[in-house]
Formats: sequence, structure tokens, C-alpha cells
Amino acid sequence: MKFLRLLLLLFVIQTQAQQGGMWIPSLLQGMNESEMKSLGMKITAEEIYSVNHSSLKDAVPQFDGGCTAEVISDKGLILTNHHCGFAAIQNHSSVEHDYLRDGFWAYKMEDELTNPNMVVMFVVRIEDVTTKVLEGVAALANESDKQKKIQENISSLSNTLPKEAWQENKIKTFYDGNQYLLFVTETFKDIRFVGAPPSSIGKFGSDTDNWVWPRHTGDFSLFRIYADKDNHPATYSKDNVPYKPKHFFPVSIAGVKENDFTMVMGYPGRTQEYLPSVAVNQIVTTLNPAKIEVRDKALKVQDRFMRKDQAIKIQYASKYAGVANYWKKWMGETKGLKKANAVAAKQKFEVAFQAKVIKAGKQAEYGNLLADFEKNYTEIQDYALARDYFTEVVMRNTEILSVGYKLYQLEQLLNTKGEQAFTDRKNTLSKGIDEFYKDYNVEVDRNVFEQLMGLYATKSPKQFLPESIIGVDTAKLTATVFDNSKLTSLDSFRSLLEGDTKTVIEKINADQGYQLVKTLADAYTKNVAPKYDEINLRNIATQRTYMKAILELSPKSDRIFPDANSTLRITYGKVKGYKPNDAVYYEPFTTLDGVMEKYVPGDYEFDVPKKLIDLYNTKDYGNYGVNGKMPVCFIATNHTTGGNSGSPALDAQGNLIGLNFDRVWEGTMSDIYYSPEICRNIMVDARYVLFIIDKFAGAKNLINELKIIQPKKTK
Ligand code: ARG
Ligand code: ASP
Repeated sequence: MKFLRLLLLLFVIQTQAQQGGMWIPSLLQGMNESEMKSLGMKITAEEIYSVNHSSLKDAVPQFDGGCTAEVISDKGLILTNHHCGFAAIQNHSSVEHDYLRDGFWAYKMEDELTNPNMVVMFVVRIEDVTTKVLEGVAALANESDKQKKIQENISSLSNTLPKEAWQENKIKTFYDGNQYLLFVTETFKDIRFVGAPPSSIGKFGSDTDNWVWPRHTGDFSLFRIYADKDNHPATYSKDNVPYKPKHFFPVSIAGVKENDFTMVMGYPGRTQEYLPSVAVNQIVTTLNPAKIEVRDKALKVQDRFMRKDQAIKIQYASKYAGVANYWKKWMGETKGLKKANAVAAKQKFEVAFQAKVIKAGKQAEYGNLLADFEKNYTEIQDYALARDYFTEVVMRNTEILSVGYKLYQLEQLLNTKGEQAFTDRKNTLSKGIDEFYKDYNVEVDRNVFEQLMGLYATKSPKQFLPESIIGVDTAKLTATVFDNSKLTSLDSFRSLLEGDTKTVIEKINADQGYQLVKTLADAYTKNVAPKYDEINLRNIATQRTYMKAILELSPKSDRIFPDANSTLRITYGKVKGYKPNDAVYYEPFTTLDGVMEKYVPGDYEFDVPKKLIDLYNTKDYGNYGVNGKMPVCFIATNHTTGGNSGSPALDAQGNLIGLNFDRVWEGTMSDIYYSPEICRNIMVDARYVLFIIDKFAGAKNLINELKIIQPKKTK
């Protein structure tokens, strides 16, 4: 009995250990492929990535730089998240056609809307170019020369390595500079908007439900790729035709069960899985709490104004969502890292690492790495904190300071690049700045300013602050700046930029808002930036050697995946519920019943469209429902991060079963420390997507384009 339990435990640990990681699709053969098969995958690594045949990777482009999409028809139809298409949907909206509020559907191709500047990028092939990139680097003595040489090699290789005329060569570093891969890519530039549900479906639950499970959001939108007559990328032309993909995903409405295999392909942005314990500890105890406090104060002010004034609510909705997104993420991350004892786990790893170094007789090469980290991170702490305060307070969250900082950069440009560069930038700035002031409310900013300057003057490391800020009376400073500065309105801002160079420089330097920005920015550039950069460069070098040592000294079975770097990756795992807290267990599936449980009529986050309520009441779910219920979202152990939004969630056969859009609150620490017990990615179920397109929107034209895999008939 005891023995059986032990066996079972070993088995559980074994299957858990097989999860986590974001893998390079061209390197799956071997360890990954067998793991994937043991977890239930029915296809081969060659079917996921192949240079010679069409494969799954041919249906997974990066969407507009920051998200992922998937091709779902042979006419270039792509699916991504509502929050990824959000800016485009907003751009096409006006008071008469509010596509954010009401949704949009192109019932024929002629109705699709063009999106200037939107791009979609496919990976054609991946090649290892490490040796070529590192040529002549080892001979150089110092770190910055090495970095320079690497950059030179990368740019000359990008220009000379073979590719077709319509393709690009992109070289990216992996494992902190221990491996370099070339991505040959194709970037399509004529992308048209095809459809999106109303925000009350696509953004249902909004900020309250963001990073939270159980979730009920239909976070999807549809676009179409157009190509020239040769099926190559081209800028918009009415003569362009729908792109013929090498592969597109069949959409399965057969669903998945708990413990079924799933995989997610996409373009995860950035993770830091191999930080030493001292760095993680710094994030948990110092950096995250500081950033959270700044945003907390800014958000409270914005929220207070948004609640009592509808116009401000519209002006600040998108800004608020942007600030709140990572505020909330950092809180979840900090909590998760503490609860999972990530620092202790890293320390344990480091003890074992040190022992391996000694055992391998590599003390000379690797023996001092951990001590170096300890020294570097201790030394950098105050600089890193000052940097975060400067970024969060001056550049990000106090609008008058962030707009003033643009003028600061303008003046710097004059000093470094001369008058022509200055005039060009001045003109662009003056023209584009109405975008900023359209959504600017001076009362909101005045209150944010007072709060955040209070924090800056008392919490940012004093030794780097300008004299005049230490112990300043923030109420007085607020009055001085806001009663006098011309940075507070569009017209007065533009008036500052009128006249010849000398006049402009004089005018901005006479402005009390600008004077403050300049004082803060000068102090930062002089007291913080150079030293931060210097220590950081040392840390980068140490991290690279540490990574090299880990790769060298670990057994193959240790599953060492490279940190995310916005390149195409695949992660795999199982559909699974989780247990965030004592006595609480979360099931892995949600349904439309939960949407109705959360429904608050008229609420800006939890309203539900009447048509959806009608469909719910009549249970008119067509083929998409299961036993009288409509599936909405589900979770699994796939290891994802920002950039994976819109990524295809695939079943064991490589059919589309959903699309990724978020992670659970308790597991957002996965960017630093992945735990299979608590880290879950959140996906919208493909059946909900099709149900909304078909039953809610009546867009049969789109349904007819798809290849739909029906559930197997059960007797
Ligand atoms: N947390 C998700 C991600 O990081 C969704 C963000 C969009 N939604 C929102 N309410 N801000 O992108
Ligand atoms: N919501 C994120 C994105 O937009 C995904 C994540 O961080 O899990 O990419």
C-alpha cells in the first residue's frame, strides 16, 4: 500500500515535471517529442515544424508586433484576441459606428476594413547561426567590445544570408547569448478587419476579471491577410487577393476533457526563468512593491474621477486598462513567488549548482558566478529602484511629466544631432501631440502629480535626487507647476513650439513644468543611468556565463528551455484545474451559465448583450453546446506569457480547440518561476468563438470558410 502510494507519487512528480517551458519548434525532435507523445500528442515533431513540407508553424503568424494569430481558412482568415485587435477596432469606430460597443461583422469580403500599418509575420524557416555570429568575439577582451562585434556580425549576416526578395532575415539571441538563431520571415502588410463581437462579449469582465479565473470572456476578433497575385506580401491594393496559406487549422468542436493534451504555439515576449535567487528576492521585496505602489496611487485617482464623470471615463478607459494590467500582474506575481518559496527554491538550485561546478573541476571558470551575482545585485539595488521610480513616475504615469519628457528629449536632440534633427522632431511632435491632449484631463493629472511626486520625493533613493526635490512641499509644487506650466493644454503646448530654435529653447526653459522635468531628468541621467548601465552590463555577462554553465553541467533530462524573446515557441501540457488556496479548487471549464451569473445590467464590465441572453434562454447552441451547456473558457498547464495572446490552443491532432488570452492570478509568476501546480493559461473555447460568429452574429459566410471537425458520435 505504502509502496503503491510512493509509486503513484513518483508518477505524479514525473508527469508534472514534464510541463513548463517554451520550446523552439525546429528543435523538438528527441526529448520534447517523446514528452509530448507521453502526454498524449498524436502527431509528430515534423508535422509541427518542417522546412520541406507545410506544417503547423505555417499557420501561426505574429500579429501586429505584439500578439499571435492563427490562420483558420484557405482564404487567409485569421483569428486573434479582441484585446489584440482592440486598437484597430477603436480606430474604425465613431459615434455612428461604434464597433467596440456593438461589434462588427463583414458579411462579404467587400465589407472588410483596411488597417494601414498593421502587419502579420510568418516564420519560413529557422537556422542555427551561433558560430557565425560569434566569429572573432572570443579574442576581444572587454564586454562592450564583444557586444559591439556581435551586433556588427548580426547586421552583416542579416544582409548577406540567403533569402527571397520578399522575405526578411532576423537573428535573435537565445540562452542569454549562448545561441543565435536566424529566422527567415515573411511580413504581410494588407490586413483587413473582418469581425469582432461587442466588448460586452470580447472584453466581458474587463479589469475586474483580468488575470483571473474563473473567466468568461469571448476574447477574439477576426482579420484577413491579403497578398499580391503571386501570394507574396504587398501593401494595400484593391487588386490584392486573399492569402493562400501553406497550412490552416481545422477547428475542432469535439472539445477536450480534463487531463487531455494541449499545446500552444505563439510569440511569447519576455521571461526571466534563470535569474539567481538574489535577483528574484530583489523583485519580490523591493522593485515590484515600489512599482505597485506608484500605480496604485495613480489608478485610485483616475478611478475616483472616472466614476463621477462619464467624459473622463471614456478619456481614461484605455489608459487605465493599460496601467492596471501590469499593476495587477505584479501583485499576482509577487504573491505567487512568495507562496511558492521561489527564492528558497532558487537557493537550493544554487547550492546544487555550486557542487556540480566543483565536481566538474570548473571553479576557475564558474566558481565565482554566484558571488558575482550577489555583489552585482547588491550594488545595483538602489540604482534599479531609482530607475523604476523614474520610469513609473516621470515617464509613464504622470502625464504632464511624460509630455515634458518629450520636450527634454527634443532639447537633447539639438545638443547631440543638431538643428535639422531638432526641427524635424519638433514638427512631428507638434503635429502628433493632439492625440495625447484629446484624452488629457488636467484635474486628473494634477491629482496624480501631487500623489506621485510625494512618493518620488520620499521613496526614490535620496542620494540620487536633485536637492530641490528632497523634502519638497508637494502641494506647493503642484500649484506652482499646474498654475503656470504651458504643458497643461494642447494650445499652450503648441505655442511653446512656435518660433525659431533659439526662441523655442528659451520658451520651454522658462516653463515651470519643463524646468521640473529637466531637473529630474538631468539628475537621473547623471546620477543613475551611467552606473546602472555599467552594473547591468556586468550582470548580463555574468548571466550569460551562468546560463552556459547550467547548460553544460546539467543532464539532458533537465529540460532547459531558452527564455522568451518574441520568437516562435511551442509549449505543451494538460487541461487541468488547480487549487489556489486551502479548501478552494477551481475546475478547468467555464460555461455561459457563468456569464449569466456575473451579468449586471448596464454595468461597464459585466453587461451582456440582449441577443446573447435570448440564445441562453432558448439554449439555442446548435452543434457548439454540450449537454445543454455552452462552453466558454478553459485552462491548462501551458507555459505562456505576454505576446502569447491570440495564440492557437491545439489538441493532440493539431486541431484548433481555442485561443490563448491570459493567465490565472496565482500563476503569473511563471515569467520568473513556473510551477505546474498553480500556473495555468486561460483560453477561450473554439466552440464559443464559432457559436458567437454563427448564432450571435449570423455570419454564415465565415463559418462556411472553416474546416470544422465534429465530435465523434457516441453510441
Ligand atoms: N492580462 C491580459 C494580457 O496581459 C489581457 C489584457 C487585456 N485586458 C485588460 N482588461 N486590460 O494581455
Ligand atoms: N494577456 C497576455 C497577452 O496579451 C498573455 C499573458 O500574459 O498571459 O499576451
